[in-house]
Amino acid sequence: METIRLGLIGFGCVGQGLYHVLTHTGGIKAEVARICVKNRNKQRSLPAELFTFEAQDLINDPTIKVIVELIDDADAAYDLVVAAMHAGKDVVTANKKMLATHLTDLIALQHQLGVKLLYEASSCGSIPIIRNLEEYYDNELLQRVSGIFNGSSNYILTKVCTEGMDYATALKQAQDLGFAETDPTLDVAGFDALYKLVIIAAHSFGVVVAPEEVFNTGIQALTAYDQAFAAQQGLKLKLQCQVMRLGEDQLTMLVMPAFVKPDNPLFNVEFEYNAVVVQAAFADRQLFMGKGAGGNPTGAAVLSDISALTYGYQYGYKKQQQALKLSYTTQALITIYLGYQDEADLQAFDFWDVTARYQGQDHAYIIGRVKLQDLVKIKDQLLTLPVFMAQMPDTDIEAIQL
Ligand SMILES: NC(=O)c1ccc[n+]([C@@H]2O[C@H](COP(=O)([O-])OP(=O)(O)OC[C@H]3O[C@@H](n4cnc5c(N)ncnc54)[C@H](OP(=O)(O)O)[C@@H]3O)[C@@H](O)[C@H]2O)c1
Repeated sequence: METIRLGLIGFGCVGQGLYHVLTHTGGIKAEVARICVKNRNKQRSLPAELFTFEAQDLINDPTIKVIVELIDDADAAYDLVVAAMHAGKDVVTANKKMLATHLTDLIALQHQLGVKLLYEASSCGSIPIIRNLEEYYDNELLQRVSGIFNGSSNYILTKVCTEGMDYATALKQAQDLGFAETDPTLDVAGFDALYKLVIIAAHSFGVVVAPEEVFNTGIQALTAYDQAFAAQQGLKLKLQCQVMRLGEDQLTMLVMPAFVKPDNPLFNVEFEYNAVVVQAAFADRQLFMGKGAGGNPTGAAVLSDISALTYGYQYGYKKQQQALKLSYTTQALITIYLGYQDEADLQAFDFWDVTARYQGQDHAYIIGRVKLQDLVKIKDQLLTLPVFMAQMPDTDIEAIQL
């Protein structure tokens, strides 16, 4: 078998991780032919002749068969990936924001141009979930796919819940360890998790939903009072993603913190680990767990895609092909805990019903059901409201019968 020449765009955390795993594994016949980066003044760990600042040098090189896109700019990444596909290259990417935003186009482009686009590393880093959804679960009746899809927020929640560390210190520590972005909103407000959920939903149920139509909120407004509420009841907080069937022909999805009990498989998923729980009609419940970020774990997932290309693998988008006729809905009720300080902040919420209320001197909370479609409408507003929301344990998302 001839050695595949790779054009690598991006040589940061994941690019260097890929280079490391590629040069330390024996089996695969692939080599990095050229690397495109952005900053001309940065010191590089490899010889200068390997680098270029022009992506076209890679895309136009006929000896390069595969472009590996590992940059941190989703808009530039989309342009580069599309250009590479038009040039007849197969592409491997880890860019979840780019994929979630353009998935429909990118699926169509693969068919139209006859090239392959693989992206296992984009969702939950080293956990091999996309190819499993495509191949292993191709004929399963999936009911729900859920889990912890963001390592930084899980690291922060672990520190807060198990060590009693305050939120700000835990966030700083996550940033110092390289788990969180410099602008941590992407992680802690649930956007990174949202993009992964959109990708996973497409491969689980064949439905592509625009990220802006899906509710996401995170842990950015978590207070010590909310944490105390969890601790008093032996619960932990996890930033949970979920996509599930609602009845026969609908599905819904969201990203929201959840209080979890010790018997929940997510309870012991700590620190920067991610987990995916697949609930299926026949196989029942299965848990995948692994590192969701980091150079080597993510690089290993990219390497696995490159290896898959060597035997001609491509996603069949099988659930889409099966035309499951599921439509996305936010007409659903979710039971939440809402921690707040100022009564005025409650005005943004329209509770369907209320089962408990507490009013203390410095903190209050309300527990009840809200409509998911109402939450989607206020998701931007929630980014600046000092309220913390979490799904109550042992509660299901319920379809609203109109
Ligand atoms: N970090 C993780 O653990 C992880 C996990 C899963 C998925 N991902 C995804 O993997 C991708 C890369 O993340 P990362 O953490 O490796 O990012 P990073 O460490 O910030 O590195 C980004 C790299 O991209 C290069 N770059 C940026 N814009 C470019 C452009 N227009 N043209 C050419 N090169 C450009 C940078 O060049 P310079 O070196 O010149 O600055 C740098 O080498 C992102 O999509 C991220 O969401 C990351």
